[in-house]
Amino acid sequence: MKETILNIEDLSIWYRTYRGYSRVVDHIHLQVGKGEKIGLVGESGCGKTTTMKTVMGVLGNDKIHVPNGKIEFRGKNVLTMKQPELLKLRRTGTSMISQSPMSALNPVFTIGQQLTDIIKYSGLYKKNDKKAIEQAAHEALTSVMLSDPERIMASYPHQLSGGMRQRVCIASALVTPKDLLIADEPCTALDVTIQDQIHHLLRVLAEEKKRSLIMITHSLGVARELVDRIYIMYGGHIVETCRTEDLFQSPSHPYTQGLLSCVPRLSGGGLSAGIYGYVPDYVNPPEGCRFCPRCPHAGKECRTKRPPMVEIGPEHRVACFCYAKGEPKKEEAE
Ligand SMILES: Nc1ncnc2c1ncn2[C@@H]1O[C@H](COP(=O)(O)OP(=O)(O)OP(=O)(O)O)[C@@H](O)[C@H]1O
Ligand SMILES: [Mg+2]
Repeated sequence: MKETILNIEDLSIWYRTYRGYSRVVDHIHLQVGKGEKIGLVGESGCGKTTTMKTVMGVLGNDKIHVPNGKIEFRGKNVLTMKQPELLKLRRTGTSMISQSPMSALNPVFTIGQQLTDIIKYSGLYKKNDKKAIEQAAHEALTSVMLSDPERIMASYPHQLSGGMRQRVCIASALVTPKDLLIADEPCTALDVTIQDQIHHLLRVLAEEKKRSLIMITHSLGVARELVDRIYIMYGGHIVETCRTEDLFQSPSHPYTQGLLSCVPRLSGGGLSAGIYGYVPDYVNPPEGCRFCPRCPHAGKECRTKRPPMVEIGPEHRVACFCYAKGEPKKEEAE
């Protein structure tokens, strides 16, 4: 195993809401090695962004409660860091490409002001070395295929198209070198040619510069092309994790199998029936397996007990009673 840069252990994250605690993320484990590319895949609302925002330390104690678990970045627990340490972490250790480029940029500053501020506070250049700072900002914009960096630097966010703003967000995450880059659906507003170039850029960063990447995506195709290992998340649980090729060769959790069956095939055959139902209510989540109400194989035990993660192959783990010892057969259970 490579040197671990991020180690999430037994982490739960609850939002404080007017209905009570919303227990979104529930006892998850996730590790990222140095220079490794990880995919975090799961349907909308399953807790991907929540988990990664907590890694970045941007969700304050007024919003969330972390009842258990730890998040170690380069061996230090992010959850116990004080504000100055968190700022340092975000300046020098991790970057996150936000899922919502429309709200990630400050509307009252030009792109140039926002980018150069990031570079200034990274400590990479002398704060008064205006020329070098601007040069670095230009290079970052060019690296994300924005061809007129002068104009972009002078523009306010509202003067750019959605795709341009998204690329500015990517540029601001890449403008200073970080050990870990979290890309939260970085290409949603981009056309396929630009998407392809951005994915290539992320791959080069990880493979040549040995930066680690967490790619959050709904697209199994993107994950298949880009990442080394995949974590499948459902309803705040990690339900399966394995090397990318194994996921496509032997998807094992019923949810993963359902996800894969939803991908339309080039050879035709019509659209699949999908996965019936929707993600659980996190204020009153199902007691046992959170996928249970939607699972075609669910038995009695699944409703009351959380399935343990079991190893079913090299680096391949699944949280499902279908693989755990003493598995209740569907017929017996019902
Ligand atoms: N500030 C908040 N307060 C309360 N609940 C929240 C808050 N932010 C997110 N949630 C809830 O947490 C759950 C997970 O949201 P999250 O944004 O982490 O999902 P996601 O997996 O990133 O989904 P998507 O793929 O749509 O981006 C959702 O039910 C959402 O409503
Ligand atoms: Mg999200």
